[in-house]
Amino acid sequence: MGRIVKVLIDHATVVVSGTKIASEIGTSRSEVWRLIQQLRALGVDIGGHPATGYSLKSMPDLLLPDLLAPLLQGTIFRNLHHFYKTGSTNNVAMDAANSGAPEGSVFLSEQQTAGRGRGNHQWHSARSVGIYCSVVLRPKLPPSDVLVIALAAGLAVQAAVQELDSGLAPDLKWPNDLLMNGKKFCGILTEMSAEPTQVRHVIVGIGINVNQTSFPADLQASATSLRMVSGTEYSRLQLCAALLKSFDREYRDLLGRPDAHDSILRRFSERSSSVCGAHVHVDENGGFEGVTEGLDSRGFLKVRTAAGIRTVLSGTIRPR
Ligand code: BTN
Repeated sequence: MGRIVKVLIDHATVVVSGTKIASEIGTSRSEVWRLIQQLRALGVDIGGHPATGYSLKSMPDLLLPDLLAPLLQGTIFRNLHHFYKTGSTNNVAMDAANSGAPEGSVFLSEQQTAGRGRGNHQWHSARSVGIYCSVVLRPKLPPSDVLVIALAAGLAVQAAVQELDSGLAPDLKWPNDLLMNGKKFCGILTEMSAEPTQVRHVIVGIGINVNQTSFPADLQASATSLRMVSGTEYSRLQLCAALLKSFDREYRDLLGRPDAHDSILRRFSERSSSVCGAHVHVDENGGFEGVTEGLDSRGFLKVRTAAGIRTVLSGTIRPR
């Protein structure tokens, strides 16, 4: 279906006949008509009918591989897969990785019916308003380095959002969330398959609330979107491309440059309001309170408590 959208975009200012579209994508005119009907059902605004030809009325903001690939040239993200609806892109990516999908495979969906977050939370994944993206990585690293990859993904989201709109100021909340005005707009779910000393593959799943204008009642106090913060509607395609380009740089540096691991930890600490000097409650080991004291060399969070420094491995932190 992406190829037909690409043909319509390539001829955006004119009416294109069904015959021409059919020959460009190598199908029949009746199949073109069927695809046009499907695209309309998905909200793509296409004028015309079989007798007159078709024209795109407005540019659809779909995360189609044909539109994304040219923006990702030179990155590891070359193997792009797009769904209109799926359960969870992390599940799709994990299944694909288990079956040998190469490093840099990307799985995007316009909508998820079973989007997941950490701790079995759901990730609200309404159609074509957010980015629901999972990538397959195969780093030659020990399992203990995977947290740094997740922190690098957070830095990449932060950089991409600021590239899209320099007026936005996303805050990194250790280890996996990004917030604006104290509410979450992005969550990162990192899952891996590993041997004791070596990662087999890592799935980094990134959910970004981009153009939502509201959330269900149970999320209203905690969730926001870029659009709700600024009042601006954004191109998910531009944001997704900026995110994957930025993540590609972070990831390749991590594998290739000896100083990159420490650089990720340092930049994460500098760009997060919660890593140093924040009064927090930690939901780990029955829960405790303290003041954050930075990250250790593996990326774990140090918290000073009445009983001394405690290292948080995976718990959720909440401001006090
Ligand atoms: C969290 O908040 O704990 C993480 C949320 C991660 C959501 C993304 S959306 C794309 C990918 N697919 C999923 O099912 N989850 C991640």
